[in-house]
Amino acid sequence: MSTQGRLNKVTTSSIREMKKSGEKIAMLTAYDYATALILDRAGVDIILIGDTLGMVVLGYESTLPVTMEDMLHHTKAVSRATQKAMVVADMPFMSYQSSAEEALRNAGRFLKEAGAHAVKLEGGRDVAATVQKITAAGIPVMAHLGLTPQSIHQLGGYKVQGKDEAVANRIIEDAKVLEEAGAFSLVLECVPTALASKVTEAISIPTIGIGAGVGCDGQVLVINDMLGMFDRFVPRFVKKYGDVGTAIKEAVGSYIDEVRSGQFPGPEHSY
Ligand code: KIV
Repeated sequence: MSTQGRLNKVTTSSIREMKKSGEKIAMLTAYDYATALILDRAGVDIILIGDTLGMVVLGYESTLPVTMEDMLHHTKAVSRATQKAMVVADMPFMSYQSSAEEALRNAGRFLKEAGAHAVKLEGGRDVAATVQKITAAGIPVMAHLGLTPQSIHQLGGYKVQGKDEAVANRIIEDAKVLEEAGAFSLVLECVPTALASKVTEAISIPTIGIGAGVGCDGQVLVINDMLGMFDRFVPRFVKKYGDVGTAIKEAVGSYIDEVRSGQFPGPEHSY
């Protein structure tokens, strides 16, 4: 069934069913009410309030400064707009790394206070116990492997992960461990296409790729990247489906010209 015709809410069960039936999962990020409304009406399956919020909305150099309060604020706005899509909130840096107890408390806030349906967190076997603790409390967890931007200083830059065999094998093993720990899906970021396909075959939960090729069960992009609204850093994996940045600049340019020339407001915009 085309997602545009989807009648029911997207849930962890429907996401798993999509993998089984070979129906691809379409996920996008959103950070505000207006955008989430459009995405939900367009029929996107999952809306992620990514911690890319920090870069594309708040103007930070990385995702590291993003706080729980930032994420809760934007998750609330997205949840208010969403009728059918599944709403997944990204757990920000240092909201889940210190202890599984703190991770559970913070994960719970996304569902209790902000209306999210699930949380996402980065990491492999090191976060498996945390994933287990959160899922045992009834909170669905989306895992995230490959390029994990919260570890950018450890990884030494935004680059493809798993090109060498040892790292590739570790990613495959980590994916199995995360599935075992209870994750309902897995984001694979910036890994070779062949490796992403191997991971997708090795686990029964859906993989959602970003810069991971066509073999994943679904795809995700950052909305500002795919709409051409963020040009500070555009990775190769981004496909621009629109040039909204230029459209806004042109519209604003026309407005400025008309205000300065006295053409706006006209009689039809006046009382
Ligand atoms: O923060 C984010 O937007 C993400 C996606 C790129 C998967 O984690």
